[in-house]
Amino acid sequence: MSLAYGGHLRPLLSICIALLCFLLAGQAYEELSDNTLKSLPRPKDDFDIHTGPLLSPILIPRVSGTPGSAAVLQHFADFFRTSLPSWNIQFQNSTSTTPVSNGKEVPFVNLIASRDPPWAASGDVGRLTLVAHYDSKYSPEGFIGAIDSAAPCAMIMHAMRSIDAALTRKWEAMETEGHADADLEEHKGIQVIFLDGEEAFQAWTDTDSLYGARSLAEHWDSEVNSAMSTYKTPLSSISLFVLLDLLGSKNPSIQSYFSTTHWAYKKLANLEKRLRDLKQFKSSADAPGQPWFLDSSKTEHDITTFLGIQDDHLPFLARGVEILHVIDAHPAKGFPEVWHNHNGVPDDGEHLDIATVEDWSTLVTAFAAEWMELEGFMPLSGDGPTKNDEAQKPEKRNANHLNKKTEL
Ligand SMILES: *[C@@H]1O[C@H](CO)[C@@H](O)[C@H](O)[C@H]1NC(C)=O
Ligand SMILES: [Zn+2]
Repeated sequence: MSLAYGGHLRPLLSICIALLCFLLAGQAYEELSDNTLKSLPRPKDDFDIHTGPLLSPILIPRVSGTPGSAAVLQHFADFFRTSLPSWNIQFQNSTSTTPVSNGKEVPFVNLIASRDPPWAASGDVGRLTLVAHYDSKYSPEGFIGAIDSAAPCAMIMHAMRSIDAALTRKWEAMETEGHADADLEEHKGIQVIFLDGEEAFQAWTDTDSLYGARSLAEHWDSEVNSAMSTYKTPLSSISLFVLLDLLGSKNPSIQSYFSTTHWAYKKLANLEKRLRDLKQFKSSADAPGQPWFLDSSKTEHDITTFLGIQDDHLPFLARGVEILHVIDAHPAKGFPEVWHNHNGVPDDGEHLDIATVEDWSTLVTAFAAEWMELEGFMPLSGDGPTKNDEAQKPEKRNANHLNKKTEL
């Protein structure tokens, strides 16, 4: 990823139109209860840098087109096939020469894993889309890229595994109650994109960077869903493109960059606060008062929209996709100290702050669960229903009932 002030970003199109589309698409979002937040599945040893089943296999050099890259891709594919068998896995492949490939074509492989409501035609599903890149930098040799972006990939894996059973329960309940295909709201899916070739091989330029993202955005823009579909292309099926990058250092600083998705940024900020207040954040012990989301009290009119961090969202943004860019970039200090090993501190497993990594995974889980409206379907532990649960709508009480029945 590269920081270039001075505007490679195209101006955003009309906010009003975006808002209208958003309202028409009927995007609902439902907050989780305190009790559910306190019961979120925890990563256990997932993020142990030596043996953690999710993270440790990614902490190897994985330059595009090398055996390390193939091994990490295999790790992802194995994870979805084994732990999330209801998910659909696809690869989107391309090749390109690079400034260091001596005219040879280098393969770039993006992995897309998705899960849709079982009754929905794929062209009718709008998907929350969680994105991170899995390639590592060509130089210096042996570069690991733990925050960039091994840890974000593992956070997403943990979050998807944590909501999968609740998705099943929710969709089963909806089918049982027979209002599965009532309206658009019930055509809400989720997908993960692990992108290849984000890093420049030599020096960041428009052509030496974002190899996988450029290819996928172009491909999905030209691929047409079946006739009569709600969404014309796979690109327009992305309801929100949440890009996680450079996460895993202590005390991250997350800014809000896009006014049309500032509302979703605020949802994340609110979850951070609630999880902290509920003592669910491990990293709070060191820095109790420091919020990660710096712009949470700003309105969408007050945020700095044209900062110009070049990252995988750009080819999607250029095609009108709604972006939430979750990247640790302090307004004054810039990227984390370990970024690209620039300060002599290597971006490797040993320099991750694991408490922060775990907190991120909890936060991403909570956000995905709220987006997919899984209150009442997530596992509960501890002290039973809260007052909040009692106050839920009748169908939600049914849902709770069903939840308990399948849990016990
Ligand atoms: C894309 O590449 C992957 C990894 O090499 C391979 O498994 C897959 O079959 C390829 N897919 C297509 C459609 O060529
Ligand atoms: Zn990088």
